[in-house]
Formats: sequence, C-alpha cells, structure tokens
Amino acid sequence: MQSDLSALLQQALAELDYGQQPATLYDPIRYLIGLGGKRLRPLLTLLGGQLFTDDVRPLVKPALALEIFHNFTLVHDDLMDQAPLRRGQPTVHARWNPSTAILSGDVMLVRAYELLVENVPLPLLPQVLRRFSQTAAEVCEGQQWDMNFEVEISVTIPQYLDMIRLKTAVLLGFALELGAVLAGAAVTDAEHLRQFGTDIGLAFQLRDDLLDVYGDAATFGKRVGGDIISDKKTYLLLTAQAQANAAQRAALARHIGQPVPDEEAKVQAVRAVYDELEIRPQTEALINDYFQAALLHLERLSVPAARKEPLRQLALQLLERES
Ligand code: IPE
Ligand code: IPE
Ligand code: MG
Ligand code: MG
Ligand code: MG
Repeated sequence: MQSDLSALLQQALAELDYGQQPATLYDPIRYLIGLGGKRLRPLLTLLGGQLFTDDVRPLVKPALALEIFHNFTLVHDDLMDQAPLRRGQPTVHARWNPSTAILSGDVMLVRAYELLVENVPLPLLPQVLRRFSQTAAEVCEGQQWDMNFEVEISVTIPQYLDMIRLKTAVLLGFALELGAVLAGAAVTDAEHLRQFGTDIGLAFQLRDDLLDVYGDAATFGKRVGGDIISDKKTYLLLTAQAQANAAQRAALARHIGQPVPDEEAKVQAVRAVYDELEIRPQTEALINDYFQAALLHLERLSVPAARKEPLRQLALQLLERES
C-alpha cells in the first residue's frame, strides 16, 4: 500500500512545474527534488488521510506542498550548516552559490504555499493556512535555536529536545494532521495523529543525529561527522559531556568550540569518547522511548487497528533507517 502511495506522489511530483527563467533560480529546485529522498512528509499526509478516506487523490497536492517546503528548509539548512553533501550529491550552495541557495529556497517556500491552497476545500482553508504558517515559523525557531546552540556552552538536554521538536518534529506532526483534517477526521483524531507524528519526529531527529556520527556516508548521503565539526549540541554530545570523567571531559573540551585545524581528527576524538561512554545505545534507548510514546497516540485513534497498520510499519522502518 505504501508503495502505491509513493508511486502516486512520485508521478505528481514529476508533473510539477516550478518555473523556467531564470534557469539559475529554478534549476536548483529540479536538481534537489530530482535527487530523491524518502518523501516522508507527503507520505505521512497520505497515510494520515487514508485512515479516514479511501480516496486520497485530493490530498496529493497539499502533501507535495510539504515536500517542497521540506526541500526549501534543506537548501537553507545546508547553507547554514555549511554542508557539502545532500542525498549523496553536492548541496545547492556548493554546486551553485549561497545567493542561489537563498533565492531558490525562497521561491520554493512560495511554491509550497501555492500547492497547499490549490486543492483545499474553502471552509478548511483558514485552518490549513494558519496551522501550516505556525508550523513553518516553528521550524525557523528550531533552526535558529540550533544555530544559537553551536556557540553556547551550557545547553541542556530539555533545551535540545525542544529545539529538535521545533526544527523537525512539528512538521512530521503537521503532515499527519493535515492528512487527517483534509480527510474529514474528528478533532481528537487529528490531534492524536499530530502527537504521534511529533513523537516519531523526535525519534527521527535523534536517529539523524546518531547517523551523523555512526552512519555510512554512501547510504546516509550526507557528510558523516558534520555535526561534530560544527559543534552541534546534539543529544550525543550533551550526554557525553554530562557523563564524562576528567580525561574525557578534557578531550571533549580540546575539540568542541575550538578552531579545527584537522576536522577528521576532531570527529575521531569526539567519536572515541562517545564509544567509551556507550552513547550510541543510550541514544537508541531514547529513540525507542519516543517510538513507544508515539504508539500510544496511534492506539487512541478511533479507527480499526488494521487501518493503522501502515503507519505503524512506517514508524518501525524509520526506527531502523540508515538513510
Ligand atoms: C532531513 O530530512 C532533515 C531532517 C529533519 C533530519 P530527511 O531525512 O527526511 O531527508 P530526505 O528528504 O529523505 O532527503
Ligand atoms: C535539519 O536538521 C532540520 C531541518 C532541515 C529543518 P539537520 O541539520 O540535522 O538536518 P540534516 O542532517 O542536515 O539533514
Ligand atoms: Mg543540516
Ligand atoms: Mg541543521
Ligand atoms: Mg542532521
């Protein structure tokens, strides 16, 4: 079933016209979208809708709006994070330049709004626009906290969790909520779905932070060690700093927040401390906690259990994801 929905999304995505001239504005959009990705957010919208309706075709355009919005955040995120690779290929700012990344990103946000409103029934439009705008602003807030934390030394784990809730989890929650709302779900069901998505989103970003350290670059499609190089205050780092002995604390302090003559040496040194402190299984345990919390919300939905199975399966796949 998931593959049917993916095919539906893929075809609709291929038919989108972002614009033609100047090519330096629109080519980067076609490039990045053409590199693929998991298409998770639009899939969540369709899966959320499918709980309540058998015909999700009217949901495809709004679902794609979220994928375009997500790709917009990636273009700007890669510029902010100075990331060289995305989906296994050069990032937009690396292949073109920072100005192109800014402006192509901007026009993607505009196209996302256009797609969102194209098919939404008029009575639902104010709510959909308000919730999408709120979510988009929260993503910006999370992204700014993430940047602020790079240069802060006393970030707490609750602060980190709130930052990833904003930058990543709220969009997954909204993707499901949007599907439910457009498919006519009751308010309580839409709310449980949103919370399911938010908990899955927290697990998803924790997994992303784990893969950033322990992933395989070829599969992950991003530079491994990037978070360590840019002093990101991830759950891994904050937990290591909290649990480090004197020697480990000194090793971390030598590298974090310091100018880096040798980036690979920095990554290796920090990863070595993570290994000693068994940060990886601790992170996996927290990921699992959020997965369990998410499932409770799924259980509370007022639809037959069999109908929820595709969402549960997708969440399980995300727990184990390598890309
Ligand atoms: C990457 O999102 C940004 C994060 C929130 C971690 P995805 O992992 O969904 O990226 P794609 O779209 O599959 O490439
Ligand atoms: C990105 O977090 C969240 C958003 C793009 C809004 P990351 O910076 O960890 O995402 P990746 O690892 O570059 O995909
Ligand atoms: Mg990034
Ligand atoms: Mg980032
Ligand atoms: Mg990341």
